Amino acid sequence: MERRILVTGALGQIGTELLRALSLKYGSDKIIATDIKDTEKLSNIGIKFLKLDVLNLEELENIIKNYKINEVYHLAAILSASGEKNPKLCWDINVNGLLNVLELSIKYNYRIFSPSSIAVFGSDVGGLAFQNSPLNPSTVYGITKVTGELMAEYYHRSHGVDIRGLRYPGLISWEVMPGGGTTDYAVEIFHEALASKKYTCFVKKETRLPMMYMKDAIRATLELMDAPEEKLTIRGGYNLPSLSFTAEELYRKIKEEIPEFECEFEPDNRQDYADSWPDEIDGTLSENDWGFKLEYDLDLMCREMINSLKNS
Ligand SMILES: NC(=O)c1ccc[n+]([C@@H]2O[C@H](COP(=O)([O-])OP(=O)(O)OC[C@H]3O[C@@H](n4cnc5c(N)ncnc54)[C@H](O)[C@@H]3O)[C@@H](O)[C@H]2O)c1
Repeated sequence: MERRILVTGALGQIGTELLRALSLKYGSDKIIATDIKDTEKLSNIGIKFLKLDVLNLEELENIIKNYKINEVYHLAAILSASGEKNPKLCWDINVNGLLNVLELSIKYNYRIFSPSSIAVFGSDVGGLAFQNSPLNPSTVYGITKVTGELMAEYYHRSHGVDIRGLRYPGLISWEVMPGGGTTDYAVEIFHEALASKKYTCFVKKETRLPMMYMKDAIRATLELMDAPEEKLTIRGGYNLPSLSFTAEELYRKIKEEIPEFECEFEPDNRQDYADSWPDEIDGTLSENDWGFKLEYDLDLMCREMINSLKNS
């Protein structure tokens, strides 16, 4: 099948790297990148960019119709820390934006990738979250992600929509700064380790969260979208095998490479969101259903982050 791909929220932390991977795999002329923000950068690499607010159903439909889209990577969202500041906007974009994409898929019959998050879990889960652990999030962001998972399962069951999702952990990448999430410290720390050799981390040093290097997350996304339909037992969001380290362990690992780097820990309100999430994720179902395996451990990720930032 020739892919004609639409990416929403394409200028964010994940979109920027997913666009590159999709254009390498399918060709940049097969991709329409959209975002509520504007950019002129993508035309340099041959990707067509259109400004699109996912809440604008008419414009979304025009793009899907005009470009005969058959696959949508729906990344437009408000993340956890930003969502707590504006819960209504978070609900509107994360839930109603997804509903627009789902509704139109009944008419235009395209496949959908829709990310979920480890924020679907709440503090009743304890340290290790299994695929079927209870979903009682305490953040509005987590509530929108649980709703998105349930809607994905519903549209698949009731309308046969081929939608697939992953519960991404905190994603670590060097190219684009993250967009207002609770795990942003795990990216900021690398930038500051190189730039100012000092960082004040906004969670406690013993805070342990599930994390993943962006290259593994992008590969997981492409592998899930390539998996045969009959192998998939989950449509809302698969748990992914993830790394698990404390903020202090990350600091110590970076310090091995940059000995003069100093980090202090001054928790703010984001500590509460981090405390409500699990420390570790059991991703056995992703391994069993569609064969996903992590490639980057903490050492490899830190070395690649530091080298990439040095050379950027
Ligand atoms: N980055 C992570 O660590 C992480 C972890 C778990 C889940 N996720 C999920 O992955 C997806 C992408 O996350 P990201 O990290 O790239 O986020 P991001 O904040 O970096 O990017 C989101 C993009 O969506 C755009 N956007 C916001 N409102 C929009 C609207 N109304 N219409 C169109 N575009 C709009 C923003 O301009 C931004 O470029 C989200 O669903 C997020 O919940 C991300």
